[in-house]
Amino acid sequence: KKTLKDMDFKGKKVLVRVDFNVPLKDGVVGDTTRIKAALPTIEYLIKEEAKVLLISHLGRPGGEPKDELRMDPVAKELANLLNKEVKKADDCIGDEVKKAADSLKNGEVLVLENSRFHAGEKKNDPEFAKELASLADLYVNDAFGAAHRAHATTVGVTEYLPSAAGFLMQRELNALGEVMENPESPFVAIMGGAKVSDKIDVIKNLINKVDQLIVAGGIANTFLMAKGYEVGDSLVEADKVDLAKELMTEAEEKGVEIVLPIDVVIADDFSNDANTKTVSVKEVPAGWQILDCGGPQSLENYKKIIKNAKTVIWNGPLGVFEMEKFAHGTVELAKALAESDAHSVIGGGDSAAAINQAGVADKMSHISTGGGASLMFFEGKELPGVAALDDVE
Ligand code: 3PG
Repeated sequence: KKTLKDMDFKGKKVLVRVDFNVPLKDGVVGDTTRIKAALPTIEYLIKEEAKVLLISHLGRPGGEPKDELRMDPVAKELANLLNKEVKKADDCIGDEVKKAADSLKNGEVLVLENSRFHAGEKKNDPEFAKELASLADLYVNDAFGAAHRAHATTVGVTEYLPSAAGFLMQRELNALGEVMENPESPFVAIMGGAKVSDKIDVIKNLINKVDQLIVAGGIANTFLMAKGYEVGDSLVEADKVDLAKELMTEAEEKGVEIVLPIDVVIADDFSNDANTKTVSVKEVPAGWQILDCGGPQSLENYKKIIKNAKTVIWNGPLGVFEMEKFAHGTVELAKALAESDAHSVIGGGDSAAAINQAGVADKMSHISTGGGASLMFFEGKELPGVAALDDVE
């Protein structure tokens, strides 16, 4: 794919798709990670004297303007980080926006309004894409986190503008690509999270690549059930039990060890105030639910596996880590990864948040800015937002 180095930006209007879908708290940006991650591309374009138009979605406004999802707090945070004036438009298409784009001087930055205020964004409506494209001369996609979406700002616009991948996009594709194509073994994947249905394709693909697959989090319950254990009131997907059995058989045939929890933290209610105890997975009583796979024996086993690993990928928490009582396993896993010498790649979303919560972000080889996007990558599929970019001739 073309990259920034393949384009000449001087005096050009460049539409840059970034993933500024960040958490907002009381009208300010709650986590600046994604904005910081886009700075190398933005700073490069400023240095190259481009006129920089930034476009992103924020939240899920459902195709119409919602004041609480405007990009103003993001533009403000970006101005702080760049230490430079950042302009902000109140829409992302239309005459006013066009005027604002045309009056930009070289090296100036304009943040466009939330792309999802228009229904055409998610529908990848060609008319909407064309209007957006008419603002600029060139298109750069630096939004790895949104590259699994085939929307107007990630795919549609590439029909109308010469396109290239930004530095963050490149960095993500290299880091994730390397681990999937050339992992040093033992290669261990840790899959957590709530829903089996979200992880089936990932597990299917990883079974062909890894040596050991730790299945934890809510998804472990369905696998435990497939093994014949009682899981009480735990979240299970009963219609996926057979599939879990098939996956375990397939893994066994391929010599891949599926590692399930040994002991777990259970609760009598889905609440941080619940009564809790730690039990063997063989002894989960009726009326109780598994909310953290990180019992001491499970953790000891995970640590042993991680210590021996040369490559580890991790996606999804081991328990309901938003509740303090059930965060222990996830945080301990993050710490174990920090202590290991393995090449460690962390899928975005909750696992990245857990790494931050444990204060060990600087100990990881790569933390992806993409949640759904990194998952799709681990599924071995091509991301639509990447596929759409121009190839080097
Ligand atoms: C993300 O946060 O994973 C991306 O920004 C995509 O957001 P979406 O799931 O609302 O499309």
